Amino acid sequence: MKRILIKETVAKVGEEVLISGWVNTRRDHGKIVFMDIRDMSGLIQVVFVPGSKAYEKISDVRPEWVISISGKINSRPEKMINKDLVTGTIEMEAVDIEILNSAKTPPFEVDKDTSHVDEELRLKYRYLDLRSERMTHNIRLRDNVITFLRDYMHRNDFVEIETPILMKGTPEGAREYIVPSRIYPGKFYVLPQSPQQYKQLCMVAGFERYFQMARCFRDEDQRGDRQPEFTQFDFEMSFVTQEDILSFTEKMFIEMVEKMFPGKKLAVKPFPRLKYDEAIEKYGSDKPDLRKNKNDPNELAFCWILDFPMFEKDKDGNITSKHHPFCSIKEEDKEKFMKGQDLMNIRANAYDLVLNGYELSSGSIRIHEYELQKRIFDLLNISEDEQQKRFGHMLEAFTYGAPPHGGIAPGIDRIVMLLAEEPNIREIIAFPKTGDARDPMTNAPATVSAQQLKDVHIELADDAKGKALDRAETQTNE
Ligand code: AMO
Repeated sequence: MKRILIKETVAKVGEEVLISGWVNTRRDHGKIVFMDIRDMSGLIQVVFVPGSKAYEKISDVRPEWVISISGKINSRPEKMINKDLVTGTIEMEAVDIEILNSAKTPPFEVDKDTSHVDEELRLKYRYLDLRSERMTHNIRLRDNVITFLRDYMHRNDFVEIETPILMKGTPEGAREYIVPSRIYPGKFYVLPQSPQQYKQLCMVAGFERYFQMARCFRDEDQRGDRQPEFTQFDFEMSFVTQEDILSFTEKMFIEMVEKMFPGKKLAVKPFPRLKYDEAIEKYGSDKPDLRKNKNDPNELAFCWILDFPMFEKDKDGNITSKHHPFCSIKEEDKEKFMKGQDLMNIRANAYDLVLNGYELSSGSIRIHEYELQKRIFDLLNISEDEQQKRFGHMLEAFTYGAPPHGGIAPGIDRIVMLLAEEPNIREIIAFPKTGDARDPMTNAPATVSAQQLKDVHIELADDAKGKALDRAETQTNE
């Protein structure tokens, strides 16, 4: 017999079928045994009655064992119907079973919501945590959101282009993860903080509409809405104005919410637009939470924040770009910009999309002219030599017919977190890191062998050696 999915059993009343999956729960009622069996499509109640071949084989079977069961699908009597179950109108009467694998008792109950279980333990056994209904739901919800967005982009003539993970630094403000080169002693790749430069180069290449579900890496302090690696829904368009990007993005999110999440409501439509100065003045924040009822989990309050300052000062008082140095300057401020006057009040064509008080996304209309890009680098006090070393390829590309272009990059993790009504992004990432950037399951980051270090021409400083040893010992003792 060919195995069918549990959700398909509903249409098989009166027939004998074969299902496979995990034992979700077992209940012994006198001589009769009930098990809920779980597969990727749902749960089914299976009844084992004395005298059947199946009954003979289940004495040891416990939750999380993997079994195949053949049995007859029967309708449930009216009063036994379970409305919470996809298969609530039927049950299976087991004829025979095959045990495919046994299972140790899991360190926590996976047939219940695991959100109150110690997170370290959940992450150490993430493959078990992901068996729970809530986590399965979150990961599938994430897939649905990504599928909708991908499809939306393809319907609108975008092409998905994978850009390199091993690259040269891109200045997005966070510390980069670096990867030593074996072949070039003393040289390093860095992991992308975002595909910013490559997506602009895709515009120079003439694709006009690029997108990517892009994995990004940032070595920064963790928070509930930050992970060292995360996913941006990154896109870029040529021959567009700021208005084109805003209205394209807004229309897409409205369609997504209305089609996929009919139970949610958009607080205001079209999304309110606030200038950066206005937002700071009115709400003391550039990511205001504009929900009318902050206790309503179904309310989604999007808003746009426009006209971000181009520059800001870092903690040492040095001038840096607020977003990144590829943003274009607002027409009204161009004169001041060219004269190098009143720099801190120069505004960029840069915008953020905010949802319920979270920054969902930043974007801008970019510079596409060589002279203007150089001017920004000059104002940021990046020397000629440094400009050539770090951004020579961008500057050069702008001399070969770069079209006007702009884009935005909503963070997938934050979007899904808010749609799933979860308190942090770890709940919607299959294998996230802890708040302090570790993976308790694999014990990453970990020491590497002396030979691996030698291969990449790296010698550890004495204090790092000591720490690496301490860590290695703690990890083996665990
Ligand atoms: P930005 O740096 O604002 O812009 O990032 C865009 C969006 O990515 C998400 N994000 C994160 N999500 C989880 N963990 C993190 N550590 C993290 N850091 C950022 C946020 C954020 O709004 N290249 C530009 C975009 C552009 O100009 O097109 C960029 O990366 O949701």
